Amino acid sequence: MTACQILKAEHDRIAAVVNALEVIAAGVDNGQLPAPGTIAGAVEFLRGYADQLHHGKEEALFFPRLVERGVPSQGCPIGGLTHEHEKGRALVSALAEWSPAPGQDPRDALPALREILRGLVALYRDHLWKEDEMVFPMADRFLTPADQAELSRQFADLDQSFGPEAVRRLEQLAEELTLTAG
Ligand SMILES: [Fe+2]
Ligand SMILES: [Fe+2]
Repeated sequence: MTACQILKAEHDRIAAVVNALEVIAAGVDNGQLPAPGTIAGAVEFLRGYADQLHHGKEEALFFPRLVERGVPSQGCPIGGLTHEHEKGRALVSALAEWSPAPGQDPRDALPALREILRGLVALYRDHLWKEDEMVFPMADRFLTPADQAELSRQFADLDQSFGPEAVRRLEQLAEELTLTAG
């Protein structure tokens, strides 16, 4: 697979979890508390897979290679996308920290949860769309076949150093979240 195809396959997995978050948010709208472990699972996936593993590839390897081939490092698209990764981290931290206050009826804490989930869904959906529809087609023009092949190898090395077991666990988590949300 080319580097862009690898990143796109990761996007598809992230998008499936984003769809699950949207279903969970709809439940929250109806006053439904998420099933136990769902939020912790979503945080673990978003931090480990979407951020460390996937944004890690983009920020450490993919974007720098685009810059080497003449794409500006600031502004649109790379500066904007990097900024969105930071916004995503802040929202995931908010999700990790969300919990009803001691003595509070958990249902009273749901509006805050709803806002965080809606924010994550909107941010990720828009971000994935921009990369799929604008950045990858652009990268396919800027990067040479040798660049794509070398990036693919570097991505595989990064997965290897992350740990194949850890990657599998996160992929499994994505499936569980998707199933839980129906
Ligand atoms: Fe990204
Ligand atoms: Fe991405």
